[in-house]
Amino acid sequence: MGAELPRIDYLSHPAYGGLFQPDPAAGAHARALLEPLIEEMTAVEAQRVDRFGYDYGAVNRQGEELIERGVTQVRLPDELMDPVHAAAQPVIQAIQARIAETRAAGKAIRFKTVEQLLSPEADPALWTAVDRFLRELGIYDTVAAFFRAKSARINGLALFVNPASQEWANRLFKDVKLEAPPTAGFHIDSNGKCYLKGILHLSDVGPEQGPTGVVPKSHLWGQGSRERVIRRAFDRSPLLARTAELRRAFISLPEELQVKAEFGGDMAPGAPDTAALVDEELRAVGPTGLLTLFDPDTVHRGGNVRSGERHALQLVLTAQY
Ligand SMILES: [Fe+2]
Repeated sequence: MGAELPRIDYLSHPAYGGLFQPDPAAGAHARALLEPLIEEMTAVEAQRVDRFGYDYGAVNRQGEELIERGVTQVRLPDELMDPVHAAAQPVIQAIQARIAETRAAGKAIRFKTVEQLLSPEADPALWTAVDRFLRELGIYDTVAAFFRAKSARINGLALFVNPASQEWANRLFKDVKLEAPPTAGFHIDSNGKCYLKGILHLSDVGPEQGPTGVVPKSHLWGQGSRERVIRRAFDRSPLLARTAELRRAFISLPEELQVKAEFGGDMAPGAPDTAALVDEELRAVGPTGLLTLFDPDTVHRGGNVRSGERHALQLVLTAQY
């Protein structure tokens, strides 16, 4: 792969330029929505440069791998994993009950159905067990060093129970029937803050249980560029959805602004760069206790569960200056 994030030719995309003509009024309106967000994300980018200047640091092998590849994996030893696994069970059961109720009511399983945000107050045992392995495995130190910060802390913990066949992850365009590309879901985070993300398996995850995917080294593509700033801004804007009206507005934007943080779903199914990106993807297949730690500036995605159920803990670990 090249040193840039994939650029998509939206004017020849069947759901964008293939359906709509650029419209100057829609373009101007979209641009007016984007510009303040681009300004805001430019300031966030300046803060990143000010804080670590893309001169990542490492204090251990884990950190060196993160610098080089944007992703690293570690298997938690049983004495650190067992307390996490045990404390997670009541939360997992609560989510499973919610999924069953939603199904019984004939409603769709949504993101909010499968996710449970945790807090130190509501989930003290689980929170403490997570804090312990982060300390003992040197992961707080890894995050702090990576961003040249003083320390690091848990910014958020969320538990996911993902069952098979989730409609929200499968259909890209409601108004036009198109084959989803194999890159669907690939994105960079739009936040721009200094944090690493972790996915800890609370169940065994095989290829059919929706492993998290990360494209190694992609955190270096267009590092610190205006293009990344624009991508973040777009995904924070009200233009984000893929409705017909918003797609028309999108292709009416100046070409420089026709980029997204969540771009995977717009790539062409048969194109060489689509296949290349999937070929490079590291899929977090592995047993309970496998932790995948990655820079949210890498191209990454959550997996689609095809059979069984995936239980995972998502960690957001923020650098503290
Ligand atoms: Fe993400």
